[in-house]
Amino acid sequence: MSDAKTPHEGAEPSVRGATAGTPQDPTAEPDLHSSDVPGAGTDEPVLTFEEAAAHGHTATVLDPDATPVLEVENLRMYFPVKSSGLIRRTVGHVQAVDGISFQVPRGGALGLVGESGCGKSTTGRLITRLYDPTSGSMRFDGETDLATVSRRQMKPLRRDIQMIFQDPYSSLNPRHTVGTIVGTPLRVHNMVPKNQVLKRVQELLEVVGLNPEHYNRYPNEFSGGQRQRIGIARALALQPKLMVADEPVSALDVSIQAQVINLLQDLQAEFNIAFLFIAHDLAVVRHFCPEIAVMYLGKIVEVADRETLYQRPFHPYTQALLSAVPDVKQAAIGGRRERLRLEGDVPSPINPPSGCRFRTRCPFAQEICAKVEPPLMQVGPRHKVACHFAGELGDHPDHPVTAPLLGLDQAGSPDPAATPLAQADPGPGFADTWFDIKRGQMTGRTSAGTVGTTTPGS
Ligand SMILES: Nc1ncnc2c1ncn2[C@@H]1O[C@H](COP(=O)(O)OP(=O)(O)OP(=O)(O)O)[C@@H](O)[C@H]1O
Ligand code: SF4
Ligand SMILES: [Mg+2]
Repeated sequence: MSDAKTPHEGAEPSVRGATAGTPQDPTAEPDLHSSDVPGAGTDEPVLTFEEAAAHGHTATVLDPDATPVLEVENLRMYFPVKSSGLIRRTVGHVQAVDGISFQVPRGGALGLVGESGCGKSTTGRLITRLYDPTSGSMRFDGETDLATVSRRQMKPLRRDIQMIFQDPYSSLNPRHTVGTIVGTPLRVHNMVPKNQVLKRVQELLEVVGLNPEHYNRYPNEFSGGQRQRIGIARALALQPKLMVADEPVSALDVSIQAQVINLLQDLQAEFNIAFLFIAHDLAVVRHFCPEIAVMYLGKIVEVADRETLYQRPFHPYTQALLSAVPDVKQAAIGGRRERLRLEGDVPSPINPPSGCRFRTRCPFAQEICAKVEPPLMQVGPRHKVACHFAGELGDHPDHPVTAPLLGLDQAGSPDPAATPLAQADPGPGFADTWFDIKRGQMTGRTSAGTVGTTTPGS
């Protein structure tokens, strides 16, 4: 690895001042210990993402009043499983995404995390309509349902919804120059007159911190971080309202990750772009996303604002995910002392467990968990959880908090005496009332503050 800093990777480019440096050596490898971050040129331990990011921008903040640019409701994607042989019959379905609801605020960022195979990429590919959903709706910009528009109707919408891919090597055509890669969407969508495409490409390269004179070079002449910037320039070319970023920095070294995240933060602020940010690194998600949804086996099991999710998660799976973060990162994600070990393998999405899908690995599972699927109920101003025994680690209740909400007895059988409270599930967004699991009451926000309102079953 080179000790020399490449101007555009080692420096922190701002959106406007991105080309202030001299042209870099395009073949130089990204520099993990560049001199503007701690540990530069020394034998100090490799940086964590949080340490590298600390020299860039502060974490993105939540705007609770932002209207949603995307509202996803009850989205499903079942891939057919075919038998072998001459006549290939459908013998089952991979339930990759199974009834998820969430919203992405305009100009904001929602993180999507979970183990491999839980359905994150499938969700991203549904929103960009690389897949046609089995059912559900994806309301974009307050009107169009992306789930039902035809391919022809989708074409103009592709301008508004762009994708950044994980692998900066395979996502760029090695036979095309950077100018062709970034310029093609401009030509296809007639964004600028033909004679101005090159000028616009150069502007875009400048915006993402690359040398605009390098438009005629090929992807293999750039480092991984630089290639990811090319992918970002291509996505930015159409001035999207929403970007689906699927593990956009997972393939990069830590300090380069921080620089690319800082670039995305700049672009988000400058162009008011909303992000669905898919990642498995909880430190990266924490920095970029003020709100995070946790997926398990095709379902969203918890969604919350950053502070709540990292400091007081209520779902055993979220608690286990956070417990699994190595010690060195514990401070970055809240420094909890209680741990929950995640054991066993993720079950097959072709034949998932009944009731709660996490029950085969959950240390708190009881009878009701196998019988009844827990609803994703709102339990705080911006906090939802799907667990019959939702609670802080070390303080999970011994009775199912959902029983009175759903009109069930403690074992999950219908209880004719109970009056179900449906308000606990507000759909993709957040309501002004929620279920206070400690008090067993619906609680809400009023101009005078927060007050208890309704007791279930009363
Ligand atoms: N085209 C497809 N046909 C059949 N099954 C698929 C297809 N694409 C994904 N799957 C399955 O759907 C499930 C979810 O896959 P997906 O790629 O969305 O997971 P992921 O959360 O992105 O995982 P990773 O973290 O590994 O990227 C997996 O079981 C996967 O095998
Ligand atoms: S519903 Fe039951 S099995 Fe599922 S996470 Fe909660 S306690 Fe565990
Ligand atoms: Mg994926």
